[in-house]
Amino acid sequence: MKKILDFIADEVKKAFEEAGYDGSFAGVTLSNRPDLCEYQCNGALAAAKTYKKAPLAIAEDVVARLQDSRILAAAEAVRPGFINLKLNAVFLGEYLRKMQADQRLSVEPAANPRKIIIDYGGPNVAKPLHVGHLRSAIIGESIKRMGRFMGHEVIGDVHLGDWGLQMGLIITELKRRKPDLPYFDESYTGEYPKEAPFTISELEEIYPAASAYSKDHEDYRQEAMEATYLLQHGHRGYQAILQHILNVSVTDLKKNYEKLNVTFDLWKGESDAQPYIPEMVSYLKEKGYAYEDQGALVVDVKEETDAKEVPPCMILKSDGASLYTTTDLATIVERMRDYHPDEILYVVDKRQEMHFIQVFRCARKTGLVEEDTKLTFLGFGTMNGKDGKPFKTREGGVMRLEYLLQDIEEEMYHKIMDNHAIDPEEARKTAKLVGLSAIKYGDLSNQASKDYVFDLDRFTSFEGNTGPYILYTIVRIKSILNKYREMGQNPDEAVIGAPAGESEKTLMLTLSRFNAACENAFEELAPHKICAFVYELANNFNSFYHETRILSEENEAQRASWIGTLKLTRDVLEKSIDLLGFSAPERM
Ligand code: ARG
Repeated sequence: MKKILDFIADEVKKAFEEAGYDGSFAGVTLSNRPDLCEYQCNGALAAAKTYKKAPLAIAEDVVARLQDSRILAAAEAVRPGFINLKLNAVFLGEYLRKMQADQRLSVEPAANPRKIIIDYGGPNVAKPLHVGHLRSAIIGESIKRMGRFMGHEVIGDVHLGDWGLQMGLIITELKRRKPDLPYFDESYTGEYPKEAPFTISELEEIYPAASAYSKDHEDYRQEAMEATYLLQHGHRGYQAILQHILNVSVTDLKKNYEKLNVTFDLWKGESDAQPYIPEMVSYLKEKGYAYEDQGALVVDVKEETDAKEVPPCMILKSDGASLYTTTDLATIVERMRDYHPDEILYVVDKRQEMHFIQVFRCARKTGLVEEDTKLTFLGFGTMNGKDGKPFKTREGGVMRLEYLLQDIEEEMYHKIMDNHAIDPEEARKTAKLVGLSAIKYGDLSNQASKDYVFDLDRFTSFEGNTGPYILYTIVRIKSILNKYREMGQNPDEAVIGAPAGESEKTLMLTLSRFNAACENAFEELAPHKICAFVYELANNFNSFYHETRILSEENEAQRASWIGTLKLTRDVLEKSIDLLGFSAPERM
């Protein structure tokens, strides 16, 4: 549907032109003085210079031509030359009725749909998911959903960290513990066992043990580096261990991401890019892009305008092993070949920004990525504890995602049980939904690039700018709609009319901005803008609700109109939280 702002802008443009001024001056924005008007146009101020005329006179000329507009209820010229606008109530009612009938709730799909790969999640196999990976999953999932809703083809890839030294460490430790396994027998040529030689809990214990041991045992570390090298160069037994590690980890990761309502289309990892490395390396050498520097193979990526130094992009270490940059470059090659996307978007900790600057520049300069493919880095800030330092457990360790989720669910469960008599089983289910809203909204309501404080008490509160408050509002609407149904009426047949009062009009005006909000939030990769919209809408609804006796209204058409607006509010809120990656219960 055409945006409400565009309707108004077109109307004002027509008035500018009829009054003899250029239509390009007629920009309309939301009012920054909602106490005075709903929309405003500052074009007369800009036009004043061109036409050498007082801005107020121009504003008056324009306003005179807006007096019998069907779209505007009021157009007023005020000093020094602003045009204050109010929307016509009947027009607004009509607009919402169309929105009500539209399956997409007024949101137009993109005119030029694009193919976008989102690289998010990025967990490292054999290491438990920790809160550091939480933000990537939450933000990436939301952007994926927003992109799809806007009509783009979006492919989510988890891009597992499965190719570094951690693999060599696990292999080395496994060899120390179980040297008789066939994977370590160099003369073994038979099939390897189907069953992994470890469980997920063993695996999760092996890695930290090996990592700690390697810190003060140099030969052990050397051995792990060698194992990494051998794995990367096709050692059969080690490749088989890698497959076991992947199978065991991925099963566990999927379970955890499911709890977060996060799903991926591709479960690829760094190791999948491996086959592309040798060819890529020879290409970079042959074309003269890569050169040897102290034994390592590098590509220069600095630019004259750099404010801070951008070191060369390292392709291979002096021992021939590949690095994080190598796998990311090879993954670009792989993605270009398999998908030729219009964009690859990386949702990664902003502390990795330099890495991505190097990778993007290198890929661009060497033509690994074609010109029509955009590379975007969306760097997010750190989730801190109340002490302002990266979030930790009470004991000071890294918080595992599972435990964090459990803590929040527990907290929500008690709150729900304290609130009213409810079946404990239902309360458990509700606690899961509300807990997830607390975490996700708490994260997404902040601009992604900023650090934020993870404040359990604040995030789980039913009041203020929180997920539970939004869910509570939705549940409140659902309960009114149910009562309306119990009165023998059908909310689906309720026809929205023109607003009768101020708070109702404010609510309706906000609803009418849903399409603009979605478009803008996706364009700027900014889920926090959806949150801001949702919060405003929930507040508008609650003000209206507190002022209005909806169900006891005697005038049936009036009551139906309110119910129609409520239902639309519920639909828009539910669609919005779906874009954020969580959902609302029926009751709470
Ligand atoms: N596994 C990495 C980490 O834990 C994140 C991966 C991000 N994606 C990428 N293509 N580099 O830091």
